[in-house]
Amino acid sequence: MGGSKVLALVAIAVVVYLGEVEGQPEAKFKCTTENATCRSLIGYSNPNGTTLGDIRSLFNVKHLLEILGANNLPSNTTKTHKVGPNEVVRVPFPCKCTNNTGLSNALPLYKIKKGDTLYDIATTTFAGFLKYPQIQVANNLPDANNITAGGTLYIPLPCSCDALDGTAVLHYAHRVASGSSVDSIAQEFGTTSQILLDLNGITDPKSLEAGQILDVPLRACSSSVKNTSFDSPLLVANASYVYTANECVKCNCDSSNNYILQCEPSHLKPTNWSVCPSAECSSNVFIGNTTSIDACNRTTCAYTGYNSRNITAELVTQDTCAVPPSGSGGSTGSGASRITFQGLLSNNLFILIHLVLALVYVL
Ligand SMILES: *[C@@H]1O[C@H](CO)[C@@H](O)[C@H](O)[C@H]1NC(C)=O
Ligand SMILES: *[C@@H]1O[C@H](CO)[C@@H](O)[C@H](O)[C@H]1NC(C)=O
Ligand SMILES: *[C@@H]1O[C@H](CO)[C@@H](O)[C@H](O)[C@H]1NC(C)=O
Ligand SMILES: *[C@@H]1O[C@H](CO)[C@@H](O)[C@H](O)[C@H]1NC(C)=O
Ligand SMILES: *[C@@H]1O[C@H](CO)[C@@H](O)[C@H](O)[C@H]1NC(C)=O
Ligand SMILES: *[C@@H]1O[C@H](CO)[C@@H](O)[C@H](O)[C@H]1NC(C)=O
Ligand SMILES: *[C@@H]1O[C@H](CO)[C@@H](O)[C@H](O)[C@H]1NC(C)=O
Ligand SMILES: *[C@@H]1O[C@H](CO)[C@@H](O)[C@H](O)[C@H]1NC(C)=O
Ligand SMILES: *[C@@H]1O[C@H](CO)[C@@H](O)[C@H](O)[C@H]1NC(C)=O
Ligand SMILES: *[C@@H]1O[C@H](CO)[C@@H](O)[C@H](O)[C@H]1NC(C)=O
Ligand SMILES: *[C@@H]1O[C@H](CO)[C@@H](O)[C@H](O)[C@H]1NC(C)=O
Repeated sequence: MGGSKVLALVAIAVVVYLGEVEGQPEAKFKCTTENATCRSLIGYSNPNGTTLGDIRSLFNVKHLLEILGANNLPSNTTKTHKVGPNEVVRVPFPCKCTNNTGLSNALPLYKIKKGDTLYDIATTTFAGFLKYPQIQVANNLPDANNITAGGTLYIPLPCSCDALDGTAVLHYAHRVASGSSVDSIAQEFGTTSQILLDLNGITDPKSLEAGQILDVPLRACSSSVKNTSFDSPLLVANASYVYTANECVKCNCDSSNNYILQCEPSHLKPTNWSVCPSAECSSNVFIGNTTSIDACNRTTCAYTGYNSRNITAELVTQDTCAVPPSGSGGSTGSGASRITFQGLLSNNLFILIHLVLALVYVL
């Protein structure tokens, strides 16, 4: 194959690639463990302003407490709490990995109103977190222009369950605001520009556009929850809390505890039990009870999970001084360019097809 032919191929690839970027392809977050499920977050905002209750309905979030916890709002905040125009609220939703891509797991379901178009639903109602053809594909609609008021649509939101360099993170779908940069976004969310570029397959930080959807990994606390627990993996992002085990247990994640999840009895009325089963390590040692060993180490009765009948706990030693693994604040090392290249290939099947066509033509 001659040099000019190679050049021609490269030129075709570049042209095709630029075309894709300009059209802002649909957000596809890499999610590698087939069938893995987890919690993810989306940074929703509404230009008209809204309420927490309306956000909860739109995204089919079961309990308002889930939204309150994700935003570290006091647990007595009500659903009428106002959300200002363009104020960003973190909305938790279940994620599932299929075919190397993460999508919201069977939720949200949107009831079509009179006059709705798929384009409006994707762009306005769900704030551009997806493109309208994704709704068409996900719902097997033969004709995007023929939807019936009263019908129900599954809205596939981008998400991921992948750990980052072996450290637990929550993937947060962030809509880029005009005037922000990869650096400013990295700083805002406690990560690095390099991680954002690699995770999102971005080669040129200057190509970032307002409205683009970025996969932002938020540091999650390490927890003692076993993989057999109903709520495994219990991912709780920094500076947030969740109620789990049918709301019998409250778990907090914050940097002052060295990013180790701290759980305690919630004293709420359980959602699926008549009373909360006793959550203790031994008699009179309850989840959250802690004894210090020395300046750094302490023994805690840690929450380890729940099933349909009970809540389990174990005494664990926690080192609150140990420097934790790099996580979302660390460096990505030499894996970076490989990830970027793979991302390019898998996210741009279009290029691949054109390259193959071009090759066939040249040969
Ligand atoms: C994923 O789930 C589907 C449907 O439940 C199943 O057919 C498939 O075998 C699962 N794949 C893996 C790798 O577990
Ligand atoms: C919510 O709880 C806080 C204490 O956590 C209390 O100061 C505040 O008055 C409560 N607000 C309402 C509306 O009950
Ligand atoms: C996964 O990809 C395969 C091959 O590309 C396709 O046949 C299958 O329908 C996809 N599965 C889902 C759930 O999208
Ligand atoms: C904001 O209000 C305008 C005018 O009423 C409406 O067309 C639009 O759909 C609203 N946007 C959202 C996200 O609700
Ligand atoms: C629209 O879809 C319905 C079924 O969902 C079908 O009965 C109807 O013929 C379609 N209309 C057009 C114009 O294709
Ligand atoms: C965790 O949250 C605290 C308080 O909001 C913040 O100071 C800290 O930088 C955050 N850490 C990370 C890794 O995001
Ligand atoms: C669950 O954790 C145990 C060790 O605690 C491990 O041996 C097992 O492979 C894990 N199972 C899954 C499905 O990850
Ligand atoms: C142990 O935990 C229980 C339940 O949260 C709490 O009421 C009690 O005060 C704790 N005891 C000690 C010694 O911290
Ligand atoms: C905490 O425990 C670790 C080992 O578990 C030990 O290496 C470390 O020195 C202890 N910290 C202090 C301050 O004693
Ligand atoms: C609620 O309880 C029933 C029966 O005990 C159980 O099968 C179900 O999985 C529970 N649901 C949750 C979310 O824990
Ligand atoms: C919790 O329930 C499981 C069965 O569902 C049982 O095997 C186990 O002994 C129970 N643990 C406690 C601490 O009650």
